[in-house]
Amino acid sequence: MIPYFVPTIGRSEKKAVSRALSKKGIKGNGELCREAEEKLKGMLGASSVFLTTSGTHALELALMALRIKKGDEVICPSFTFVSTANAIIRQGARPVFAEIEKSTLNMDLDSLMGRITKRTRAIIPVHYGGFSCDIERLVAVSSKRGIHVVEDAAQAIGARFNERHLGTFGDLGCISFHSTKNITCGEGGAIVVNRKNLQNTIKIMREKGTNRFLYLQGKIKKYTWIDIGSSFVVPDMLAALLSAQLDRLHAINKKRRAIFELYEKGLRALEKKGLIALPHPNKNSYGNGHIFWILLRKGLSRDNVIKKLRKRGIECTHHYVPLHSSPFGSKYLGYRPGDFPITEEVAKGLIRLPLHTYLSYSDIRHIIANVAELLEGRG
Ligand SMILES: Cc1ncc(COP(=O)(O)O)c(C=O)c1O
Repeated sequence: MIPYFVPTIGRSEKKAVSRALSKKGIKGNGELCREAEEKLKGMLGASSVFLTTSGTHALELALMALRIKKGDEVICPSFTFVSTANAIIRQGARPVFAEIEKSTLNMDLDSLMGRITKRTRAIIPVHYGGFSCDIERLVAVSSKRGIHVVEDAAQAIGARFNERHLGTFGDLGCISFHSTKNITCGEGGAIVVNRKNLQNTIKIMREKGTNRFLYLQGKIKKYTWIDIGSSFVVPDMLAALLSAQLDRLHAINKKRRAIFELYEKGLRALEKKGLIALPHPNKNSYGNGHIFWILLRKGLSRDNVIKKLRKRGIECTHHYVPLHSSPFGSKYLGYRPGDFPITEEVAKGLIRLPLHTYLSYSDIRHIIANVAELLEGRG
């Protein structure tokens, strides 16, 4: 079976973890965390970055730090992971969903504009598959209206827009290092803080609402409770693993992007025949090869195609159940099927093809040939 995903973990990661253990690097938020944060900060060209226990926690911390509260509205796509919306709900605010574009699966900016009200406090664009919408336009529109932007860059490590790293455009950016991401520490994340006045708040909130960071710097004798918070700091052992992964990010993304391009070239003929649609990213968006998706023509059975590919030893997968049509979305938020036609069409017809650094050229040729054979009715 050609697996859908395999993390790129090798000797350098094993060495880094064992070195951390021999240095008794099991505490949280220690020197190995600082090392990984500095590396990530330098790579992103960001002013400050803090590791978190997951991408989910980075989103929760972001909305906590922005003091999003009951009565506020936060706009995000319905086509996203539950964590984007849960972070809003946990603050007592209301998620307002927007439609996506079929060519990128990013939030449609016209749909977004139509959903802005007096109550809109923040917008969360999701950089699907490591590509972004016109994030510069989104930030300009939002800041003119005093609305915060929190980038859900969970899938976007190393991806850029106009040469600038995703995650560095909004007030805050949230990255995931979950085991399915391009680089990983098992479970982990980071929050990119692009507004100086939020830095201390984030440091306090991620340490249970205390000023422990000042204590660790030797600036105070005892630390104490000064704000709301939770436990979002990462153990040094995982930070060591992440550090080793960060050293390989460039090579990993290069290989993933090359595979993405091979798929793109190999499947274009099927797109021309109208059997599938392929990603057509914004021209200023430079991806990280996180996902390669195809969207089947309406009427073709996606589940059938996935089943047949699996029988041929190729593991493919679908993606999100749209949040507006989920039980929570309909019962508690009042959304109905039909509210977002493009989102629903995409959710029904999308297939993600295998993408990881252990794929060979012959694997990719084999996958492309089998997809073509099945969709052209030859298989
Ligand atoms: C768009 C999006 N947001 C948030 C998350 C949550 O990240 P994590 O799994 O690290 O909590 C994910 C993870 O898959 C994601 O894809």
